[in-house]
Amino acid sequence: MKPKVFIARPIPRDVEDYIAKHCEYRIWNKKETIPADMLLEKTKNVEGLLAINPPVTPEFLRQAPQLKVISNTAVGYDSFDLEAMRKYQVLGTHTPYVLDETVADLAFSLILATARRLPELNNYVKQGKWTKETQASELFGTDVHHATLGIVGMGRIGEKIARRAVFGFEMNVLYNSNTPKPELEEKYGMKYSNLNLLLERSDFVLLILPLTPSTRHLIGKEQLKRMKPNAILINCARGAVVDESALIEALQQGEIRGAGLDVFEQEPVDRENPLLRMENVVALPHIGSATEETRHAMVMKAAENLVAGVTGKIPDNVVKELKDLV
Ligand code: GLV
Repeated sequence: MKPKVFIARPIPRDVEDYIAKHCEYRIWNKKETIPADMLLEKTKNVEGLLAINPPVTPEFLRQAPQLKVISNTAVGYDSFDLEAMRKYQVLGTHTPYVLDETVADLAFSLILATARRLPELNNYVKQGKWTKETQASELFGTDVHHATLGIVGMGRIGEKIARRAVFGFEMNVLYNSNTPKPELEEKYGMKYSNLNLLLERSDFVLLILPLTPSTRHLIGKEQLKRMKPNAILINCARGAVVDESALIEALQQGEIRGAGLDVFEQEPVDRENPLLRMENVVALPHIGSATEETRHAMVMKAAENLVAGVTGKIPDNVVKELKDLV
């Protein structure tokens, strides 16, 4: 008998065919996110779950006693309660590697878009404001090339961003991470820095680190005050790494030059959020990995992890905190 799994989101046909070969499955094929109570109901009698950022709580796991693996179609897994997963012996998997270059491209898009004010000036042209009276200085941005980029988080994606910065834009790169990475320093000529110095010295501060209890609100009032008045904050990590009300205040007070945000504390972002009314904020709907090619690769990888987890094999991408369960 094939193991039973639940797929909590629509997936491409070929990925569904792959799962069908190995598992008996049900699928949530609606556009809207599956409601939490429905997810619980559908997961009660299955061995595997494929979902996007499912809210995995102790209560959820208690009610799904047959679960062996939860396969997340994302690299971040802050929606997993890791302690509870360990207690209930449920493996968690994610989709690293396949999205690194794509997210690094998006990070650079945000750097360029904020520095050169692309969305704002795109609107300026389309709204017919570009006239003979336009003063050149109204359109000025700030340079990216040769500026100092401070990367907070030096994992796989951080490295790809550093490579673009150093070899593409000849930037001076500082980085902060849990542990210094001498081999990367050598490769890219970048320097490890403590967070305070990185904030004080960078023209662009870019966040690309996981959300954990210790990184929640890592960037708050005090950290924003340390940044140069001309600096730009880029967040490609998780919204809650930044204290959003402190960021709103810093931007309102002109303490920093601007922000490029792919992520928000609440997603989808509230349309009344003051950040959305600021010209110097570029706001995106959490699209770091959102290209056709990469999203397909991610969901296929998630399917492979799911199938491995329910067929007695070791999934390729068990999250590091639960690796010892396999
Ligand atoms: C996207 O944010 C991801 O974690 O893959």
